[in-house]
Amino acid sequence: MKKVRIALMGLGNVGKGVWMILNSNKKEIMKRSGYEVEVAKILVRDKNKPRDVEVPGEIITTNFNDILEDDSIKIVVEVMGGLEPAREYMLKCMDRKKHIVTANKMLLATGGDELFEKADSMGVMFNYEASVAGGIPIINGIDESLTANKIEELYGIVNGTTNYILTKMQLDGLNFDIALKQAQDKGYAEADPTSDIEGFDAQYKLAILSSLAFGTKINVNNVYREGITKIKSVDMKYAKKFNLVIKLLAIAKESDGELELKVHPTMIPKEHPLANVYDSFNAIFIKGNAVGDLMFYGRGAGSLPTGSAVVSDIIAILRSNVDIENDNPVVKNNLWHRKIKNIEESQSKFYIRATVLDQPGVLAEITTVLGRHNVSLRSVIQRGSKNSECEVMIVLVTHKTMEADINAAIKEITNLKCVDKIENIIRIEDFK
Ligand code: NAP
Ligand code: HSE
Repeated sequence: MKKVRIALMGLGNVGKGVWMILNSNKKEIMKRSGYEVEVAKILVRDKNKPRDVEVPGEIITTNFNDILEDDSIKIVVEVMGGLEPAREYMLKCMDRKKHIVTANKMLLATGGDELFEKADSMGVMFNYEASVAGGIPIINGIDESLTANKIEELYGIVNGTTNYILTKMQLDGLNFDIALKQAQDKGYAEADPTSDIEGFDAQYKLAILSSLAFGTKINVNNVYREGITKIKSVDMKYAKKFNLVIKLLAIAKESDGELELKVHPTMIPKEHPLANVYDSFNAIFIKGNAVGDLMFYGRGAGSLPTGSAVVSDIIAILRSNVDIENDNPVVKNNLWHRKIKNIEESQSKFYIRATVLDQPGVLAEITTVLGRHNVSLRSVIQRGSKNSECEVMIVLVTHKTMEADINAAIKEITNLKCVDKIENIIRIEDFK
């Protein structure tokens, strides 16, 4: 049996999962890869930190050079996260002809080009299955199994933390902060959970997925983003009345060579398969022009599911035709140029919740403004508010409307004397 020495950079949630799988599935990994995998070094910040996995003390290091300068280490797994020094360390390892596996979506989405170019120029493999949707094999799914298709639409629940929070708010009536704390305790959230709850993590993942699905370079700043912090339990109750469920969706649509890329809380029909994806589970729903509708479903975060994707990437390197000792020719994809639409050009139905004065003619004033901006209404609900005797809450649901039109209408409605506050606006996706 051949032996390969690898190193981990990071022994946190994901690193721990990788270590556990490499040990518990040693035999299977040997059979499938043809190699006995030995973890030669693990880089951490703090050697003395108590850890809930048993790792021999002598392989733990805080010195990156112990990995870089050891030419017997052929594969380096980056699961430390963050931009720097992760970027610098990976580039340096590639320069030393080490193959790389990473789970770092933030770095891939914001500075991936440099890493891909370095991997190409050095002839090393650079695998990143764990960067999107944890244990779901979506990167390989799109990049290998679906290459016969033109992908037309992609809808993803790609952030486990926010899906966990929304599930707990929807089904258990938990408040946002408690649900977030639980997601952190379970190891789903990023070191700074702002990345999860404000939609940055999903934005990075959508940039990675759509660059593969549509064969183009995506500047992550062109992906529209909104997080879930404005969602209140009252919005969930109204969604239920309309037979809808609120999810943080990452959406990519292609038409006439132009792409629409957006991440935002979305009300979706409760019968849609994505509406039944709960807790930290992720799912990616794809419409391909040959395969039709397809959904990938699984655990989107956590030690073992993410570790599963990382270890599969290690095995993929060992199983490839690469002579692990020598160069590996990397096949480059040809890229297309695509225009990314501005969010103002995209169309949706909208849910609008507002507090207005309880007096005659208010609805007429609002609907007049909406009409002037080509926004037609599908339904209206009015409820007395507990906050004030003279105010009521109204909920409006529109037909499909251009974002530019709804924005112009809302700007005017906000200034009406009879309107106290636009409390929330949530897009509705009916997948038609
Ligand atoms: P984590 O629990 O915060 O672990 C980070 C690990 O990296 C720790 O062991 C830390 O050392 C080490 N580290 C961080 N900065 C370092 C530095 N400058 N030098 C040396 N060691 C350093 O993070 P995680 O949740 O495992 O996530 C790791 C990566 O995987 C991130 O890119 C994340 O986005 C991605 N990811 C996470 C999940 C998930 O479910 N958590 C899923 C998919 C992808 P100490 O232990 O000494 O502090
Ligand atoms: N924080 C991320 C999530 C980890 O909650 O989905 C998986 O990428």
